[in-house]
Amino acid sequence: MKTLGIETSCDEISVSIVEDGKNILSNVVNSTAKIHSQYGGVFPELASRGAIELMIPTLEEALDLAQTKLEEIDLIAVTRGPGLIGSLLIGLNTAKTLSMSLNIPFVGVNHIEAHLYSAMMGQDIPQIFPSLGVVLSGGHTFLVKIKGVNDYEMIGQTVDDAIGEAFDKVANFLDFPYPGGPHIETLAKEGDPSKFSFQEGRVKKDPFSFSFSGLKTSVLYAIKGQKATKYSKTLIDEKEKKDIAASFQKTAFTDVVNKSLLAIEKHKLKAVYLGGGVCINQTLRSNFSSCVKDVPLFFAPKSLCSDNAAMIAGLGYHLFEKNPRSDSLDLEAMTKIPLTL
Ligand code: KG4
Ligand code: ZN
Repeated sequence: MKTLGIETSCDEISVSIVEDGKNILSNVVNSTAKIHSQYGGVFPELASRGAIELMIPTLEEALDLAQTKLEEIDLIAVTRGPGLIGSLLIGLNTAKTLSMSLNIPFVGVNHIEAHLYSAMMGQDIPQIFPSLGVVLSGGHTFLVKIKGVNDYEMIGQTVDDAIGEAFDKVANFLDFPYPGGPHIETLAKEGDPSKFSFQEGRVKKDPFSFSFSGLKTSVLYAIKGQKATKYSKTLIDEKEKKDIAASFQKTAFTDVVNKSLLAIEKHKLKAVYLGGGVCINQTLRSNFSSCVKDVPLFFAPKSLCSDNAAMIAGLGYHLFEKNPRSDSLDLEAMTKIPLTL
């Protein structure tokens, strides 16, 4: 069964053809990130205009690479949310049009659930449940108990910034363009992580929730001085920038690893599945590998960590297997969706 996946929740425009929920025949990811880099974050109107321009060329390229004709597609899976409304609508309406004209079913997929699924996709060994799901992206940060595919129980999430958003903002304070995560990782490699002692975020009476906004502000003050704003002048030199990046990264990752260890213990979880753009980071991977020893760890492959349509097609296939009917052409895009919808 061939599923065509479409992902346009933010600044990526991606189309993928996946066979039987796991064999990726093509996964084309185009991005408008360069356009946004001068703004320090995604400019929604420019993201949706970019999606309009890139939607059809991306679709054609994915079909070409997979050596597949539209008529050979059995199912369409598309991100229905969460994300930016303008961008979501481009993908969703493309999916509905294809579904109607080819007379094949389509399923709307929850983007953050697909990030979780990306860590399970393509695993040859049987999936292990109950397990811990960790999603670390630019829009989301949470720990979830996975009882099965599409069966989750939230353990903890961020009460303010997502971890990737904190990376993007800290990079912006250090004068690096969006997306900032890769710049922080590179800078941190040459820095001393013990030079600055930043505090991990704590949420009152909730040991599993995250808060990155206090950490972000402490980093801002370390770069630009007490009570500074992001527009204030940078007071540190190039060496200190590296130390700050390393210290910030260490604090953020220690927080995620510690809360994950606590969740594994409390909920008696048997494995850990990790996905989302921040999981590309090699230091995060090493930290998890050296601290989580008692249960197996499954990271999404790096190619599936950032936004992509293969994870949408893969999850869409499973959802359709469970409930083999098309979504209605009235299905609406949703800017916010709880994981369990
Ligand atoms: O999952 P994703 O592609 O999009 C969302 O659904 O949000 O994640 C993008 C986020 C951005 O905040 C980006 O800065 C971060 O992932 N990121 C990284 C790295 N590569 C991307 N963060 C830390 N280290 C990296 N190497
Ligand atoms: Zn994402």
